[in-house]
Amino acid sequence: MDDNLDIEEEKKQKKDKKKKKKHKKDKEKQEKHIDVQDVQIENKKRKLDEEIVEPEDYPYQTDPSDHCETPLEAYADIKSALVSLAHSLNKSIEDLAIYDPYYCEGNVKIRLKELGFGNVYNEKEDFYSKESHPEYDVLVTNPPYSYDNIEKLLQFSYSSGKPFLILVPNYVYAKDYYIRITKEYARSSSSNNMFFIVPRNRYLYTTPKSRRQRKSGKFTSPFPSFWYCCMRQYNASCIKSVSQQPSTIVCTSTRSLPANMLSDYDDRKKKLKNALKRKKNKDRKKMKQI
Ligand SMILES: C[S@@+](CC[C@H](N)C(=O)[O-])C[C@H]1O[C@@H](n2cnc3c(N)ncnc32)[C@H](O)[C@@H]1O
Repeated sequence: MDDNLDIEEEKKQKKDKKKKKKHKKDKEKQEKHIDVQDVQIENKKRKLDEEIVEPEDYPYQTDPSDHCETPLEAYADIKSALVSLAHSLNKSIEDLAIYDPYYCEGNVKIRLKELGFGNVYNEKEDFYSKESHPEYDVLVTNPPYSYDNIEKLLQFSYSSGKPFLILVPNYVYAKDYYIRITKEYARSSSSNNMFFIVPRNRYLYTTPKSRRQRKSGKFTSPFPSFWYCCMRQYNASCIKSVSQQPSTIVCTSTRSLPANMLSDYDDRKKKLKNALKRKKNKDRKKMKQI
């Protein structure tokens, strides 16, 4: 009987020992898991910290959503217009003086240089408080869309009397300020007429890291935008040279803009939308009858 008790006791002790060992192992495993989780969380935090928007160091008021830069393909689409202008001015493209008054990260010069334009002015300076502007042949820019920047730029560009190419969203042509300013200048001379260089594929603008938002991608979404151009007395020759390139469509009035570039405020767009709705309803009715 005693022997049996001893065996039972021994068995019980062995079982307890096993249980304790397992418990210890589980605990260690759990702690290890928590450690791994901590490291992962810490890494995530560090990554976010690195992506935090840097303090603004611009000598002008900015809006984070304005920080994006013109891609190379957008400049490539206006290259033939600029070459034609340089030719008319008896200049080489290396010497054509290009002025971009809005500064983001400084890629303007690099990208234009890649295309052969070596005389570009784009500095981190407040465009609006400058007492004088550099001597230039043509203004080429993509302005900030916030506040009244586009309106101010249009006013400056027209009043300068110089050729300009401005890259802005499709909706600009339907804005009251745009209609007012363009009408005013077109009245004084037909060389003030605007024409548009519209890309067949939407541009993706590059977004400088940490400038635009906490977690920024490399590009903006592909929203509709195109070049608004006024080359003054060189309009005709520039239009002729751009018309030959396959990557863009040249429109000499907003009425000839392609449907996918129309502003939501354009009556043509509203009519197209209504026609599409009517067609869909008709198709639906037909399907029901079948
Ligand atoms: C859409 S980005 C385009 C930058 C450049 N022009 C390009 O085409 O790549 C507009 C930039 O204008 C800058 N900006 C805003 N106000 C300005 C001002 N008063 N003077 C100069 N630049 C300004 C902003 O910092 C912003 O990054």
